[in-house]
Amino acid sequence: MHKKIRQALACGVTLLCLLPALAAPTLQNIQARAHQSLNGRWQYIVDPYETGYYDYRRQPYDQSASGSGGFYDDRQPRDKGELVEYSFDGSPTLAVPGDWNSQAAKLELYEGTVWLRRRFEAPPRADKRYFLHFGAVNYEAHVYLNGRKLGTHIGGFTPFQFDVTDQLKPGQNTVVVKADNTRHADAIPTVSTDWWNYGGITRDVLLAEVPATHIVDYKIQLAKNDLHRIEGFVQLDGPAHQPDVTVTIPEAKLATTVRTDATGRAAISIPVSSLRYWSPEDPKLYGVTIAAGADRVEDRIGFRTIATRGRDILLNGRSVFLRGVSLHDENPLIPGRLRGEGDMRMLLQWAKDMNCNYVRLAHYPHSEAMLRLADEMGLMVWAEVPVYWTIAWQNEATFANAAQQMTDLVVRDRNRAAVAIWSIGNETPVSAPRNAFMGKLADTVRALDDTRLVAAALEVHREGREITMQDPLAERLDLISFNEYAGWYWASNRDMLDYRFTIPHDKPVLVTEFGADALAGLHGDADTRWTEEYQDQLYKNQFRMLDAIPGLRGITPWILVDFRSPRRPHPVYQDFWNRKGLISATGERKKAFHTLKAYYDAKERQYTNKVGVLDAAGEEKRR
Ligand code: GCU
Repeated sequence: MHKKIRQALACGVTLLCLLPALAAPTLQNIQARAHQSLNGRWQYIVDPYETGYYDYRRQPYDQSASGSGGFYDDRQPRDKGELVEYSFDGSPTLAVPGDWNSQAAKLELYEGTVWLRRRFEAPPRADKRYFLHFGAVNYEAHVYLNGRKLGTHIGGFTPFQFDVTDQLKPGQNTVVVKADNTRHADAIPTVSTDWWNYGGITRDVLLAEVPATHIVDYKIQLAKNDLHRIEGFVQLDGPAHQPDVTVTIPEAKLATTVRTDATGRAAISIPVSSLRYWSPEDPKLYGVTIAAGADRVEDRIGFRTIATRGRDILLNGRSVFLRGVSLHDENPLIPGRLRGEGDMRMLLQWAKDMNCNYVRLAHYPHSEAMLRLADEMGLMVWAEVPVYWTIAWQNEATFANAAQQMTDLVVRDRNRAAVAIWSIGNETPVSAPRNAFMGKLADTVRALDDTRLVAAALEVHREGREITMQDPLAERLDLISFNEYAGWYWASNRDMLDYRFTIPHDKPVLVTEFGADALAGLHGDADTRWTEEYQDQLYKNQFRMLDAIPGLRGITPWILVDFRSPRRPHPVYQDFWNRKGLISATGERKKAFHTLKAYYDAKERQYTNKVGVLDAAGEEKRR
């Protein structure tokens, strides 16, 4: 039993107000662990005034002496005379995982608290530990098990879990979640975003079972810039009796056994003579087994290096062009957060149909399943945290929130070969506080993972017809990556070709956004906004403009498919949709889809024919 609880018992203090947050480091590769899914129909209660959390004097029930009174008690009247003014029994249900906006008309624009309840049978076994895991809850979650608070989590797109070993009881258990998607100026993201504020338990919920001493985390990847060495670590948790850790990669005939140190950590280093390196053309994944004591985890991992050399991006030592597209975590056909592998595979296949080898998963962490699909389907990934637009740069709690979301993203996905770039934000306006905030965030992600590139979608400076990169943050990043809307937000299809880019950096250039709205099926001449022809001509003009940038090594036009946004009210052209998609909300491919594919087909030929495979040391060797 937790030490604090023993102390509390000793002095007879009510447990609830002292029950420590049982947040635990999230188990690496959670889906591969023995687990019971808690997905399915959860009863829900809409609570716009948070009646289920505060008493009438606005005091939180769960911090009061009794600790009871909130909806998390899931109370039933004991007799016909007792007053209980809520009930999950008899309430409607929501599908979990699933945002509430797309499941109930009255919740389409709802921002506030919704309570969700799930009952489940848990056969706890004495020699095991149990973790209640959430893939994501947007935005703030308070979690209770059998009426006791487990803890809270802030951040709408990253996983979290609680050690419930001591809270589970044999037979029926009840989990209650208070999910609140209210936006806040000092949050990450802040109050203004160009995407739908989908609230709720939007990703998987599961109860994982692991041995008392178990593998909590690991990293098994190629060393930085070294095609001939796998390195990383395995971290154990539990009673320390320092078992050996064995990592095997049978198909590659690789294995190593290492003793853990006193903290339960084992450093991994395996020399490699021949591997099929992961690439979009050959997305090879190897079965990897990590074993320690009574625990064993199977994963599928790709091995590749990613680096820059001057203006080149090198994948496995070879210069590549990132033929990309941006996308949100939303199914356009059944609007709402992506619900499962079918949704995700559909979107990534649409990108591949356009001959993409790369996707920008904007503007927040997408699900782990999405990253594993990118591994499998051969798409490099730009992964991003929602440090978006006008953040509260001088608020320390805001920075801590951003750093935590960045950390959770890196810890979750650092074994995914597809992830090539960690992005620390999007279109953040230059200022001294912002430069300091973003510089620290860049340091944070580099300290977590030095094997991938670090970037941000910056903004350009415009003076007359000159477009230059003057953002001081560019010095701290591996790429010169920026959004520019020539021809849409400034200039027109006619005069955008008069603009010239000046990029005073010897680094690869990625254009992370350009685009135009087009209402699918609306046709006219190339000067008429909202038509497919205008969007198509803009893409053709963009290619001419961007190909003049010597260091251009990739683009992710905005955006794969139309998406919902509260910022787009035009009743004819938008109707709360951002129409910059290359594909419409009904799956129609607009003219620009085919134009972009033709451009990528040409880029692919250009880079495939490019002689000069660089070895890991960067030496040019002819094929
Ligand atoms: C911005 C922003 C996107 C937004 C897009 C647009 O650059 O990064 O999130 O949707 O432009 O205005 O359509």
